[in-house]
Amino acid sequence: MIVYGGDWNPEQWPEDVWPEDVRLMREAGVTHVSLGIFSWSMLEPVEGRFEFGWLDRIMDLLAENGIKVYLSTPTASPPPWFAHTYPEALPVDFEGHTLYHGSRQAFCPSSPVYREKALAIVEQLGRRYGGHPALAMWHIHNEYGCHNGRCYCDTSAAAFRTWLRDRYGSLDALNEAWGTAFWSQRYSDWEQILTPRITPSFTNPGQQLDYRRFSSDALLDLYRAERDLLAKISPDVPNTTNFMSGLYWDADYWAWAEELEVVSTDQYLAGELGDEAHIDLAFAADLTRSFKPGRPWLLMEHSTSAVNWQGYNRAKQPGEMHRNSVQHLARGADAIMFFQWRASKIGAEKWHSAMYPHGGKDTKIWREVVALGELLRDASDVAGTTVKADVAILLDFASIWAQDHPAQPNTELKPIEIVKQWHAELWKLGITCDFAHPGADLSGYRAVLVPALYLVDDAGAANLERYVAGGGRALVGPYSGIVDDRDQVRLGGYPGAWRDLLGVTVEEFFPLRSDDAIELTGGGSGRLWSEVAHLTGAEVLDTYLDGRPAWTRHAWERGAADYLTTLPTGEALARVLTAVCAEAGVTATGTPGIEVVRRSHQDGRAFLFAINHTAADAEVPATGTTLDGTAVDGVLTVPAGAVRTVREAR
Ligand code: GLA
Repeated sequence: MIVYGGDWNPEQWPEDVWPEDVRLMREAGVTHVSLGIFSWSMLEPVEGRFEFGWLDRIMDLLAENGIKVYLSTPTASPPPWFAHTYPEALPVDFEGHTLYHGSRQAFCPSSPVYREKALAIVEQLGRRYGGHPALAMWHIHNEYGCHNGRCYCDTSAAAFRTWLRDRYGSLDALNEAWGTAFWSQRYSDWEQILTPRITPSFTNPGQQLDYRRFSSDALLDLYRAERDLLAKISPDVPNTTNFMSGLYWDADYWAWAEELEVVSTDQYLAGELGDEAHIDLAFAADLTRSFKPGRPWLLMEHSTSAVNWQGYNRAKQPGEMHRNSVQHLARGADAIMFFQWRASKIGAEKWHSAMYPHGGKDTKIWREVVALGELLRDASDVAGTTVKADVAILLDFASIWAQDHPAQPNTELKPIEIVKQWHAELWKLGITCDFAHPGADLSGYRAVLVPALYLVDDAGAANLERYVAGGGRALVGPYSGIVDDRDQVRLGGYPGAWRDLLGVTVEEFFPLRSDDAIELTGGGSGRLWSEVAHLTGAEVLDTYLDGRPAWTRHAWERGAADYLTTLPTGEALARVLTAVCAEAGVTATGTPGIEVVRRSHQDGRAFLFAINHTAADAEVPATGTTLDGTAVDGVLTVPAGAVRTVREAR
């Protein structure tokens, strides 16, 4: 089954709306709802007094109607009584401002009293509903860190010190790692250490990097506490927590995914990306899939149309919601869910689209919601199949955090944007890729791309060398392999980690202004960055007009590693990626605006998804039968703006 549904917030509505909602859900083919996400103040209106009657009635109603529940722990939004009684548990921002209650996530992740009160309500919920027939999974918290991912209060500072003692053991080791010989920053007592705060000039880079690591861990620890408690009470019920893959970069989701049974995520169209916004969705889907290789994942939220938080909030065109949904399905999702079921008439999200809109049933949104339910029901045997990619892009959170320090050769060089650009170029070439942690097993990939990995630890550096030595093909982008895991420069010429592998030594960086371009002999240009690189074994594949190397290749044992000394733009990047992939035996097959992805299973099931993002009909090579049973013999026609799924002939 492909799970279909959304967040349901019945507590916002009078009780007589509930049966109508459930009747409409059945009409739309809804199989699951996420429930109770923001219900803490309704479930525990006064500290220690629990009121579950209304939730009992909802759970029973859903069970009677065969709709399953991802029951949420309501800990993402503590009630006003919590902030009022325990003001010391409120989060504090970088500038020292307290963030008060009145919206959501008003708690410090390191607050002991927050943890105590959160676990108390989780325990009540677990005991009451752990065996309920409607319960399918625990939905733990909601989007950890969305608004309070970094807290700078004194409680957080104390927790940060504990985390640092664990990591370093001694102050000497910490002083060494943070390079506190610089600017007289040497610590002589643990108590002197703070979270980063407003300082007269740049903060210590080691401190800011470790604080980002700590902040991710502090939230992960909260997740673990809730998970472990629920596991004790209801050992057979699985759980997840919804990530914000591609939108939120403050949690190290590689580390988080190891703790999760099932990965789920929320994903929203970036209106400002205009015509290419759907490529960004593909990015987030590929990233989410990669967090648990070889396993399906759940799209916990997306939008039927406009959101309410982007300033200008673009509504989706007819058919766009289907294309977006099928993109996620094609890229490995076994659930397509929305925020939210019924559009609110109250609160800060009343202008956010939903499955059941303000206008009711005679609307584009409702018709498409019902049609999507049918499509997903017809696609039920897609569940459990996975996507196999031949190309991986290396990505690491610690590297992104380290490069986020403002004292850089060029702050315009933004790793997330570069990674997204390389992914987008692969998307246009019709090459599906995974993402991988630098330390992951890379042996299953024909090519490994490293667009922007400023920081790599020794294990990650050696891992790429081993991969290439074993016959792999690598392509490394500039300003990668520069520092170790303490953000300390690897000496002897850049990129220190991979000088030998690449057969290149970079003497000096020559960053470019944002409106400058550097022309390449082979066509197109590079932006933001250039280098003076010397060959120490590599051959040159392209140069700047002055003859300096722009693109090099080095044969290394059974494989080869390419290097770029600039960031090629569209045409030039496509040329490089096509060549590297072709060398690795991966062929570019892309047709502009047409997305084609395959999901398959060892048992022989295979599905080809074709999504036409253009205004003209398209033809895609395929053989099998479409979901509605039409035979396809070699060529599949995908009408303008439409989606087609083919059960491929075995
Ligand atoms: C997030 C949250 C939801 C809602 C949506 C709006 O994903 O999890 O509660 O706020 O954003 O887009």
